[in-house]
Amino acid sequence: MANVPSSDQTKPACCCGGNASGDATARRGFFAKAAAIVLGAASLATPVVVGLFSFLQPLRQKQRGGEFYRVTTLANVPEDGTPARFPIIADRKDAWTLYKNVPIGSIFLRRKDGKDNNEVVALSVICPHAGCFVGYDAKTKGFLCPCHMAYFDIDGRRTNPDSKSPRDMDTLPDVEIREGDVWVRYEKFRMGISRKVAES
Ligand code: FES
Repeated sequence: MANVPSSDQTKPACCCGGNASGDATARRGFFAKAAAIVLGAASLATPVVVGLFSFLQPLRQKQRGGEFYRVTTLANVPEDGTPARFPIIADRKDAWTLYKNVPIGSIFLRRKDGKDNNEVVALSVICPHAGCFVGYDAKTKGFLCPCHMAYFDIDGRRTNPDSKSPRDMDTLPDVEIREGDVWVRYEKFRMGISRKVAES
């Protein structure tokens, strides 16, 4: 009866005396485990990266406060020097949604010296005390915050000595007229403190 070799006997031996087929199987196992570890780590890292991006998104939005925005045309700013309120319109993005052309703030614009002067000044409508909206009072030709009765003159300076506002109204000093349009560098400032500090 013919002597049939066992399966082990048919496999070539490697140069170091080991089993080549066994080594190949071991290598495949090693690579499969490595791939599983890499994929597992990637799946764990994804929510961390998404969470970090969501966390940083508000910070990114706050940095937008320092940008220039086209506010209106110069022709829309009253020639007699009366302040007029205008919204700041821009795209706003939260973690998942982009809102196109929505109000992100408001400012007062005023021609500095009336009719013949095209120089425009800008003031934030946000009261430095606690964030209520300041309004223009045509009777006193000044501004008034209705929340705690803080009065300001036409340049935004406090006029009542016991004002609850810790500082004058916030000016937005970067105003440019570009081809008949008014552009303002808009940002918000911290409330409740005497120094004017941009929100970060
Ligand atoms: S919020 Fe304006 S005075 Fe208090």
